[in-house]
Amino acid sequence: MNDQIFKLLLLFATFRSFSCLEQITEYGKAKIGERCERDRNCIQNAYCRAQMTCLCDQYYSPTFDNSMCIASAGLSCSNDVVCSTMSNAVCRQGVCACKDSYILDINNSSNCIRRPSIVGDPCQRTDECQDAFDRAMCINERCECITLYHFTNETRKCIQSRFLYNTCKMDYECISFDNEDILECRNGECVCKEGQGTCSKG
Ligand SMILES: *[C@@H]1O[C@H](CO)[C@@H](O)[C@H](O)[C@H]1NC(C)=O
Ligand SMILES: *[C@@H]1O[C@H](CO)[C@@H](O)[C@H](O)[C@H]1NC(C)=O
Ligand SMILES: *[C@@H]1O[C@H](CO)[C@@H](O)[C@H](O)[C@H]1NC(C)=O
Repeated sequence: MNDQIFKLLLLFATFRSFSCLEQITEYGKAKIGERCERDRNCIQNAYCRAQMTCLCDQYYSPTFDNSMCIASAGLSCSNDVVCSTMSNAVCRQGVCACKDSYILDINNSSNCIRRPSIVGDPCQRTDECQDAFDRAMCINERCECITLYHFTNETRKCIQSRFLYNTCKMDYECISFDNEDILECRNGECVCKEGQGTCSKG
């Protein structure tokens, strides 16, 4: 190879790696949403979009006060420390993800919130309630069973309600219209529990 060209290439490569390094190590003070001209004007893990405003890099999200860009779900990681600015997250299969029994907050991809475990637990989407309890919905930010279904501790699911004199297999299927636990399953039929005098009126 021509020596001159080789030197030129070497120079170019050095320059490239140098400017690349500069990009990684240099960052500024402009917060998320603030004006900028170049990426290096913006805080760490942020870039200057359209030479106008700072935005967090992909897989980073802004804190409440826009002063930092913190790890969010999907960020590449080699250990849990990388994901530690998220709440209740770990590094799983090379990306930051919610811990077991946690799901991602739909409003904040850096925040993992507890998966609903009984009916009445907080929810953001109906999917979450369905995944946990089958026949359930998210109503007023709480998981509720759909009509004619009720939650039983025994299965930890919403099951079809069986009322007085309906057929049944298990005690927990039987429930009064007021959702009271006053019935039991006897000979394949929901009947009043022993000593529940007022039961049959319901
Ligand atoms: C999102 O959640 C993280 C972790 O709980 C928190 O630090 C951050 O401030 C939240 N972001 C917003 C915009 O509220
Ligand atoms: C998420 O954001 C929506 C709309 O921005 C809001 O109505 C809802 O209350 C928020 N949910 C939580 C749990 O913060
Ligand atoms: C529900 O079931 C769990 C075990 O699955 C038990 O520890 C708990 O006491 C039960 N709660 C009620 C209200 O029966």
